[in-house]
Amino acid sequence: MSRLIIVSNRLPMSLEATDDGSYTLRQNVGGLATAIGPYHRAHKDCLWIGWSGIDPEQYSDKELQDIRQAYRESRCIPVFLSKDELNGYYAGFSNNTLWPLFHDFSHEAVFKQQDWDMYRKVNMRFAQVVEPLIRKGDTIWIQDYHLMLLPKMLRERYPDASIGWFLHVPFPSAEIFRSLPWSREILEGVLGANLIGFHTVDFSASFLASLHRLLPEIPVNEDGVVEMPDGHRAAIDAFPIGIDYNLYSRTARSGLARAMRRGIDEACGKSPRHRYRTSVTAEGVAATEASVPDSNWWSHYASEGIPETTLAKQAASSIESRSNKVIVSVDRLDYTKGLPERLKAFGCMLDKYPEWVGHVTYYLLATPSRENVESYQRLKDQVDQLVGEINGRYSLLAWTPIHYITRSLSIKPVCGIYTAGDVALVTPLRDGMNLVAKEYLACHDGRDGALVLSDMCGAADELTDAFIVNPYDIDMVCEALHNALEISPEESRQRNIRMQARLKVRTASNWCTSFLETLKQVSTPGMTDKRF
Ligand code: ADP
Ligand code: G6P
Repeated sequence: MSRLIIVSNRLPMSLEATDDGSYTLRQNVGGLATAIGPYHRAHKDCLWIGWSGIDPEQYSDKELQDIRQAYRESRCIPVFLSKDELNGYYAGFSNNTLWPLFHDFSHEAVFKQQDWDMYRKVNMRFAQVVEPLIRKGDTIWIQDYHLMLLPKMLRERYPDASIGWFLHVPFPSAEIFRSLPWSREILEGVLGANLIGFHTVDFSASFLASLHRLLPEIPVNEDGVVEMPDGHRAAIDAFPIGIDYNLYSRTARSGLARAMRRGIDEACGKSPRHRYRTSVTAEGVAATEASVPDSNWWSHYASEGIPETTLAKQAASSIESRSNKVIVSVDRLDYTKGLPERLKAFGCMLDKYPEWVGHVTYYLLATPSRENVESYQRLKDQVDQLVGEINGRYSLLAWTPIHYITRSLSIKPVCGIYTAGDVALVTPLRDGMNLVAKEYLACHDGRDGALVLSDMCGAADELTDAFIVNPYDIDMVCEALHNALEISPEESRQRNIRMQARLKVRTASNWCTSFLETLKQVSTPGMTDKRF
């Protein structure tokens, strides 16, 4: 039986030790895990190879064996990397060189020979893990910028293998890409694949332009197919990724997500109950906890009850005079996500439209990411500071403008936050696709809810009914945010219906199938995909 072998830097799940010494798996944050995870779970013939996320030196041989076994039960094969390997390959070349370069943050990109050497070495380590698993007829699907040399390494060993590679981030212009001292080796590495996929037509055009410029001796035909000297063909094309729409629309209706929405509505003075009672009693919290399993997260907010002081009562009566609103955003704490610019736009709106003071609350979910990379540490400090400044400047006794949550949450509470949002503020400075925008719309299936979306992400090509903004333009984001808060429910619903119709068809599962079918066509001798 032929199988699909997915290879990515990080496995879709991380292991967490439980109190009884066994291990449990938890879904990782990030677009790649969210999009392909459900496909892997649903297909029993699919294996996933990736970095375990743990330091093997911290575990005994017996524990490592248990960890391997726990992963194996979920058809995952962990790769263990040492601290030095991780520093050079992951924190270094992947996240301090390729990530900033590919997201047009060249000024953040660091070019170090040792990191490149380690990147090559770790790509080879992955090849050594994958090779013994390959059986005749298997398809190998390599993911993302961490493993750009792997396609060629596997091709040299298996000339007839069917190998795909997909980039989950933008591909930069040829001008930027060629500043990378090892750009040719990277292109040659990727060309070991039969199908090379990107989120947008623009990214695949940039890749072709880089090929043309850096490897002019390689012939590319007008359909974007490369005939490689060893005889294999490599096709280059765009495959915009989708989400599991039903999963998000269903989860948004789950008990926990609904309870969270009610809780946020109350806390923000949206629900009638809150308008007359400005405190949440201990009994209320207990009752909510009893009715909603796993509601620790929610009870944290509920227990932040507002004291029934005279001032709070005044605030409550002012709340009644205007319909209160909630803004939400969900991100990894990454400098490509435009968090400081977004916070400035929110602050600007409170300045320019003071009628929102006391009437709009921003739920900002931003989980720290890649904490061992310096640029990420600087960003965390900057965001902490901006949140503090805005909260310090505008807070009233009974109202705090920004609820800042840095914990990583699972899908149900994330959907709870999405459903509570009258407006989602999704303003990356650069992003391959951005799934958060799509998840927000799925959670508002059949409902109103406005999306403010950056024009610097792949999703903007598809979600044209959103409030599209230039994320660097603080005034523009401020105006769009104000307009999104003021939009009528009917107009918002109409806009959403059009975008949701597209998302329902272009799902993550259809995306996987479409990529894999095209790969099959391209890599089977004698078969030609209709597009090529
Ligand atoms: P990226 O892949 O760069 O992180 P995407 O928007 O494409 O950006 O995908 C992010 C995925 O990770 C989404 O599925 C989103 O729900 C999830 N996610 C992002 N941030 C968080 C967070 N702070 N807590 C929980 N899930 C998150
Ligand atoms: C982006 C990348 C993924 C990565 C994810 C989370 O989505 O495209 O490859 O897994 O970010 O980043 P991390 O470095 O924590 O794996």
